[in-house]
Amino acid sequence: MRCRQRILMAAAFLSALTGLAFSGEARGRLIGVIMPTRSEERWIKDGTAVKEGLEKLGYAVDLQYSDDDIATQTRQIDDLITKGVKVLVIASIDGSALSNQLENAAAEKIPVIAYDRLLMQSPNVDYYVSFDNYKVGGQMGDILIAGLKLDRATAAKPVIIELFAGSPDDNNSVGFYQGAMDKLKPYFDKKVLAVPSGQIDRAVVGTLRWDAAEAQKRMENLLSAHYSGDVVLNGILSPYDPISLSTLEACKAVGYGSTPGKPLPVVGGQDCIVASVKSILAGEQYATVLKDTRTLGAATVSLVDTLMRGKTPAGMDTASYHNGAKIVPSLLLDSVIVTKENVQKDVIDTGYHTVEELGL
Ligand code: BGC
Repeated sequence: MRCRQRILMAAAFLSALTGLAFSGEARGRLIGVIMPTRSEERWIKDGTAVKEGLEKLGYAVDLQYSDDDIATQTRQIDDLITKGVKVLVIASIDGSALSNQLENAAAEKIPVIAYDRLLMQSPNVDYYVSFDNYKVGGQMGDILIAGLKLDRATAAKPVIIELFAGSPDDNNSVGFYQGAMDKLKPYFDKKVLAVPSGQIDRAVVGTLRWDAAEAQKRMENLLSAHYSGDVVLNGILSPYDPISLSTLEACKAVGYGSTPGKPLPVVGGQDCIVASVKSILAGEQYATVLKDTRTLGAATVSLVDTLMRGKTPAGMDTASYHNGAKIVPSLLLDSVIVTKENVQKDVIDTGYHTVEELGL
């Protein structure tokens, strides 16, 4: 009995020791990852890709989602700094709202990686990992050019569109909108493309927090204010799949897609979410832009690992992204336009979405 007790005590002591050793080691290799919200498919994929990739390399990961609430996000970053994380990976909600937290991180010598969304107006951002947001915007423009056959349009019968932009506090919205509008400009100049509402300014067409319901309301208002009689909407510039789907809903509600002479407008999008791929296959949403979160996750994991090994990352773009305080060295990945034609090749065959997820 005594002997058994001793063995048990020794085992308990050993396991406490290993536990301590493990948590000590984990703390030394703890990486903080902050994502904006769990309510959007893409950020769940992002968080999972970064966490799993880092864990495979033996890092401990504290992954937090901020529910699109800025106060929650600032608190989470403060907590992670207190916990002693070695690197912070942050996808912000409002890119300009975290300056105090970034200053605290710098004081603790914690490198900060801005994930997908650039952290603005702060010198305390070390790296930026994202897609080439201006090019992504260009692809949004290309989608409309192809889908609306703008090269064949004439000024006698201009193609009619309305414009939507992303959240004004997200720097990506600037690149997306500028990229798209630069592609569309020649068609506006030739007057083969028109916006009946006259709402063109990014500040006016922006959608705070990428809120699809807000965009739907705006679309409903536009339709009732500017589309009476025989004015038919042909296309919508959309920067985000849920906005594409909600604005299409607004159109359907007033007869688009079910009335002769009123086909559903051509709408692009971004993120290649399951619901949009289904809609594309059903012939409703015309296209989307796929930004493979697995690639972004892997690039981030490798950057974190390089920093943790005390090395300087190579191959950074040191020209494109000025955050208002400094140029932030950036790693910019490529994105892909997805239409009905390449869903199989670029979405299913690559395993981005499975046939089961797509209900096929
Ligand atoms: C991302 C997009 C995403 C949007 C809404 C942007 O910063 O780059 O991929 O659709 O935020 O979450």
